[in-house]
Amino acid sequence: MCGIIGYTGNRELINILTDGLKRLEYRGYDSAGLAVVNNQQLQVFKTKGKVKALEERLHDHLQLLSTASVGIAHTRWATHGEPNEANAHPHLDNAGHFAVVHNGIIDNFAELRNRLLDQGCRFASETDSEVLAHLVAQYYDGNLLEAVASALKQVKGTFGIAVIARDLPQTIVTARRGSPIVIGVGAGETLIASDVTALAAHTDRVIYLNDDDIALVTPETIDIRSLENVPVSREIAALDWDISAAEKNGYDHFMLKEIFEQPQAVSNTIRGRLDFRTATAALSGLNLTPRELAMINRIVIAACGTSMHAGMVGEYYFEDIVGISTEVEQAAEFRYRNPIIEPHTLVLAISQSGETADTLAAVREGLNKGAVVAAICNVVGATIPRESNRGIYLHAGPEIGVASTKAFTCQVTALLLTALLFGRNRRLSQTAGLELIEEIQQIPTLIQQVLDHADKIEIIAKKYADAKDCFFIGRGNLYPAALEGALKLKEISYIHAEGYHAAELKHGPIALLDKGVPVIALANDVPGKEKILSNIQECLARKSPVIATATNNDTSVSHLVHDVITIPSCSAFVAPIPTVVALQLFSYYVAKERGCEIDQPRNLAKSVTVE
Ligand code: G6P
Repeated sequence: MCGIIGYTGNRELINILTDGLKRLEYRGYDSAGLAVVNNQQLQVFKTKGKVKALEERLHDHLQLLSTASVGIAHTRWATHGEPNEANAHPHLDNAGHFAVVHNGIIDNFAELRNRLLDQGCRFASETDSEVLAHLVAQYYDGNLLEAVASALKQVKGTFGIAVIARDLPQTIVTARRGSPIVIGVGAGETLIASDVTALAAHTDRVIYLNDDDIALVTPETIDIRSLENVPVSREIAALDWDISAAEKNGYDHFMLKEIFEQPQAVSNTIRGRLDFRTATAALSGLNLTPRELAMINRIVIAACGTSMHAGMVGEYYFEDIVGISTEVEQAAEFRYRNPIIEPHTLVLAISQSGETADTLAAVREGLNKGAVVAAICNVVGATIPRESNRGIYLHAGPEIGVASTKAFTCQVTALLLTALLFGRNRRLSQTAGLELIEEIQQIPTLIQQVLDHADKIEIIAKKYADAKDCFFIGRGNLYPAALEGALKLKEISYIHAEGYHAAELKHGPIALLDKGVPVIALANDVPGKEKILSNIQECLARKSPVIATATNNDTSVSHLVHDVITIPSCSAFVAPIPTVVALQLFSYYVAKERGCEIDQPRNLAKSVTVE
């Protein structure tokens, strides 16, 4: 969580820092701050709240700050200490010599803090991060890189940090372990940031730091070392990033734009990956020979949040299409549960950002235990795909809205492609492979058909916008779709929403149903529909209003329920995709009606880089 950016060069840097912070706000937006070196002094500005508040604070000082030549900035998602001005970054040592911004968690901060207090340090915040500023000050004897390295060697936990010193007008020292840092290489200027979205407006050449790398950057130089002070070489990667893709382009919210981008995003995931001649999928990034593919005898999917729900749909694909035993693990459990991993187990990590700490830990655990590890990711060059060494990129384009939308549909599509590949390597006939290819090709059109009826979904959503509680129920692979629908609604509208398997409703939750508790039943025309019709009756008998998703003109559903969201006719395999798109729209319009901050819901962050 938290986003950091730094700049050293000759341009006026305040706008560069605040614009960069705005692009990183998806990582947290509890408070924001920056520090610059100006006339051999550190100048620090911090505010509670969003970057906009920081900009207002800076407004009267812009003239004064125009001569600054190096600066670091931070947008926070609070872990230690409430979101207030004192806890906002940057943090300083007692002499005001060093300023530090930090993304991550220092696990042994209490021990370090007590030691520093005993040594006479005064703390200005409740954060874990502040210990870094005091440690750097203790170790500094004229070499900032060495002082930061020494400080970091004391630290247990994760960090992406940037440090400046008041007597170094053009220098930033940055380092990472567990939290990402990317260096942007410019002409006569250098930037550092938590991810490339903050850099893309300034450069198309970037260097991704590895864990335990530390770098000293100036406008003209980049010196990267290990924490043991051994020089390391990291290649410069070309950044293929369309900056306009990270703008709202006329939509009210990023979330709505990203919902409407889904036909294109899914087409990008599919492009070049269908092999009609052999009726299979071409997934060269998996880097598995047919023999290696055939050896895999179990799949463990590790993911969090929406990505985990996509993984749950994938479980149906792998078991049904491929006939391979598959289980989905909440990624945080994977490492601590001591999972059974054999050499022919495939650990499939799914992550939009490629930075989720728990999913990354699962990747490392899988590698340690000798599994074949692959990643399904959206952000190119992120830590999870880099460490996995094999995988599938979604090519969905930047997803900025904190609530994940297009990543889900692209992840499910990528999982279906993977199941096609594995299936053709085993029991799936050429004819069945070609049928699946046809279904995959239909996905963008199916999504478009749902989007074309967004106005109807909006009308239904407005009717239920005052609900306090809500249930989503589904069966088969529409069960994870129900979980995803509930997650979308709760995260952006703050309505208490729960996703349940329709059969499980009777085992407790049905006690909560009454006329004030709407149930959204996923009653598409797929196997299991008759059973969900019975479940709908059970809800109606308890006076719950029922909204159902149903396949075109299915009167067996529409005659029964209060409102119907129409889903185009499609196979059971792809049904979760258009269904979830409809639920995304439903949640979006409910949240809009309630006046919620849709792109940046309270307490959330897009990229959860802490455990
Ligand atoms: C956060 C986001 C979710 C996302 C989850 C996993 O909780 O708010 O939208 O699904 O992290 O993120 P990942 O980047 O690993 O898919």
